[in-house]
Amino acid sequence: MDRRDFGKLIAAGAGGHVLAGGAAKADPPADPNTTPTKARDAADLPASETDRTPQGEPVSVADFRALAKARLPRPTFDYIETGSTDQVTLRENVEAFRRVQLLPPILAGVPEADLSTTVLGTPVKLPILLAPVAAQRMYHPEGALAAARAAAAMGTVFGVSSSAASSIEEIARAADGPRWYQLYVPRDRGIAKQLVERAERAGYKALVLTVDLGEYKDADRRNRFTLPREMLVKHLRDVGFSGIRDDMTQDELIAFNSKAWDLTFGWEIFDWLRSITKLPLLIKGVLRPKDARQAVSIGLDGVVVSNHGGRRLDGVPASITMLPHIVQTVAGEAEVFLDSGVRRGADVLKALAYGARAVLIGRAYAWGLAADGEAGVRKILELLRDELQSAMTACGCSKIAQINRELIWEDSAQ
Ligand code: FNR
Repeated sequence: MDRRDFGKLIAAGAGGHVLAGGAAKADPPADPNTTPTKARDAADLPASETDRTPQGEPVSVADFRALAKARLPRPTFDYIETGSTDQVTLRENVEAFRRVQLLPPILAGVPEADLSTTVLGTPVKLPILLAPVAAQRMYHPEGALAAARAAAAMGTVFGVSSSAASSIEEIARAADGPRWYQLYVPRDRGIAKQLVERAERAGYKALVLTVDLGEYKDADRRNRFTLPREMLVKHLRDVGFSGIRDDMTQDELIAFNSKAWDLTFGWEIFDWLRSITKLPLLIKGVLRPKDARQAVSIGLDGVVVSNHGGRRLDGVPASITMLPHIVQTVAGEAEVFLDSGVRRGADVLKALAYGARAVLIGRAYAWGLAADGEAGVRKILELLRDELQSAMTACGCSKIAQINRELIWEDSAQ
């Protein structure tokens, strides 16, 4: 199998991501993995993102993006940044948030806002959670351990990817904040069951099943984005696959990996999960109200409205566009979460106003991690927290529960 096929596997999002510290392995002769990221065609980038490296303190997610860009090898930066094919959905995720307009009541300002809430019964200090993100040790040597510490310090949930590149137990040992485990499903259901049991034993509070599987991104194919062999070995062993031998070549490991994961399970998987765990179950990757209804009707605890940050199928609507329809369909029978496109505290306010319980961020904290490890992820959460607090006080909301749909300008309503 050549490196292009490997890129496909990584894109399949099925556990190809493994880390052992440091950047992606060089891929001679072009060696794109060690070539610093160059300014690219603006058409490659979402309209919202700029490349200005901040002079002085970074004060926004965009500033951290620029720092990450300056720091990371290009293929790694591109892996985080880019979306599927023409990246229409990637851009739309951000643009759709901008089109939503807030209409705050006047003379209703409050001096401060309490951001605390609960998610699936777990208290959190802010309604901003860390989404599952793969390959974190490629962004910073401490990878997911740093993200776990930052989330715990900020009092929020860390959604741990099956491909985070540190084991379930390593991440649990790193910090004792609340964690959800995002499951990619090994074809061998015995191993899948063990993963669920391990997450339960290690104190994870919920299982997230991602259902929009596979990524298809030009940049990753163009860059021949690859992972070092030792990272793949650790990852496959961490998951619990037996038969990973020290003398296996990278191609053999890749072939093993490509057969190891189930990418085409159906709704019945939730019956199976219910039969093996008492943990709350969330489904991540819902855009159709019908699917949200189905999720609720089979008793799932949470629905994550998500298009995988525009990384899977291009041309689907933004999550924030579908959110109000899904909230209406779910009708309070499960908690609804949103990710994809959150870059500002006001985005969080908008999602909550439409009825989301909380949002998850992906790229924002991956950039923070790349820029400054644990401190960078913490800073991203602090910035979004402060922006949300400012937006809430401007809207007269001193508590999360006071955020409601009347804050959004909808022609007919006001
Ligand atoms: C992801 N995402 C993701 N989702 C998942 O369920 N398992 C995973 O392993 C990954 N890996 C991953 C890697 C990277 C680099 C990114 C950026 C994203 C998707 C992620 O959970 C979330 O849905 C999106 O990141 C949300 O969009 P924003 O916040 O990045 O716009």
